[in-house]
This record gives sequence, structure tokens and C-alpha cells, in this order.
Amino acid sequence: MAEVIIVRDAREGGEFVADAVIDLVRARPGAVLGLATGSSPLPVYDAIGRRAGEVDLSRVHGFALDEYVGLPEGHEQSYRATITREVVVPLGLTPANVHVPCGRVEGIRTAGEEYDTAIAAAGGIDLQLLGIGTDGHIGFNEPGSSFASPTRVKTLTRQTRRDNSRFFGHADEVPRRSITQGIGTILRARHLVLLAFGESKAQAVASAIEGPLTSSVPASAIQLHPRATVVIDEAASRLLANADYYRDAFADSSAWQTR
Ligand code: GLP
Repeated sequence: MAEVIIVRDAREGGEFVADAVIDLVRARPGAVLGLATGSSPLPVYDAIGRRAGEVDLSRVHGFALDEYVGLPEGHEQSYRATITREVVVPLGLTPANVHVPCGRVEGIRTAGEEYDTAIAAAGGIDLQLLGIGTDGHIGFNEPGSSFASPTRVKTLTRQTRRDNSRFFGHADEVPRRSITQGIGTILRARHLVLLAFGESKAQAVASAIEGPLTSSVPASAIQLHPRATVVIDEAASRLLANADYYRDAFADSSAWQTR
């Protein structure tokens, strides 16, 4: 099962995960990180940024989880622009080392396969950051996504487009399609770290961690992974039946097992 860590708040969660990332990069300066967008991983990037002097990230490789299809080049809400703004620049990653699936309509039919090939050529992802959608999606793998899926185009649900309309002004402006690492792609990463904060994620988190394995809750696929860590705050843990067990297990571990 996933290791579940219930933290006081997002800042503390960010610091936990930043520790794991920094330890990884110290051990392996050319580590390959799976980068997530959305608000959940921001505390991780902030915490790494605060400790930027401690580790050189210039040799790190990054692969973003997903991208919208069909946004104009350079659109500020494209995940390429978001990753550049929120991760590459503040953390001092080398832009040429950071990859985002190509959301251009021309070439979209082969873009997924090319992306999975590029991940494999880099040696695979060492640590994959994940958020979770309120409908249980990871990346943009909406409910029903095969657990074996490769990187490919996915149509977004109305719920996801509503959730993401806060970045665009109106749901109608949110693209209808995305290109996302598949669940099969995500499961090949050596360590998964899923972050979720706030009441709105409580149902998705409970279904993902304690519900049945089902493509109706794409994040439940992390139950199949030998090394998955879930970092959540109290509000996001509210519907977990075994929250006390996770607290006890974490309190008993001499060090965070991801280190
Ligand atoms: C988007 C992204 C997901 C992300 C989700 C949740 O749909 N494609 O990768 O996990 O939003 O975002 P947030 O962390 O802002 O709640």
C-alpha cells in the first residue's frame, strides 16, 4: 500500500517532499523528475527554491505530466509556460533538460509515443510528483483511463474544465483536450509522490487510497505501485477510514521511508 503521511499543512508537506527531492539529487545529480502542474506541487517547488543554495539542480532532467492540446504557442496557461515559470526559472533547471508533451495539433498523433520514448531514453523517471483531480484523475487521465495507458490524447471531463476554469476566466476557454502521460507511463516511475491538500480532495483521496482498484478512479492505480507516497493535510485525510493507522505507522518509522 502507499505510505500515507498526514501533515499539518501544505507548507510542511512541501518541505517533506523537497527533502526527498534534494536527497535524490545529491545522490544522483542527473536525476529524472516527473513534474506536475496545478496548485498541489507548488509548496514542493517553493521549499526547494528556499533551499536552492544546498543543491545544484542544473543537471536534473524533468518531464512534465501533461499539456493542453491546441493552445497557441507561449500561451501563459500552457503547461510549458507554467513549468517554465514555476519550476525551471525559480529552481535553476536547465531549460533544454525539461520536457513537456507537445500539444500542437500538427503531429499530435505521434507526440505521445515520442514522449514515452524520450522518458525511456533518459533512463526513466526517478521521482514522479502527482496532484489529484477532484474526480480522481492523475495527470489528465480522466475516469475510465486504462491502467496500462501510454502517453496519449485525452478529452477533459466537464468537471476538470470547470475546476481549471479558474486559470482561464471561463470554462469555455479551457481546452477540451490534453496530452497526458498515461497511467502505464506513470506507474513506470521508480517513486510516486502524490500530494493533495484541502477538503475538496478528501473524497478523491479516500477513493484512491482505500477504495477498490478501478479505472473509474484513475489515482487508485497507485495502489499497484511498489513505492508510492501520499502527502496530505488533515482536511484531505478527513474521509480516510485508516487515518490513525497511517499516523501510527509514520510515527513509528525512524525516518521518512522515502529518504
Ligand atoms: C490538473 C492537472 C493535474 C492536477 C490537477 C489538480 O487537472 N492536469 O495534474 O493534479 O489539475 O490540480 P490542483 O493541484 O491545482 O488541485
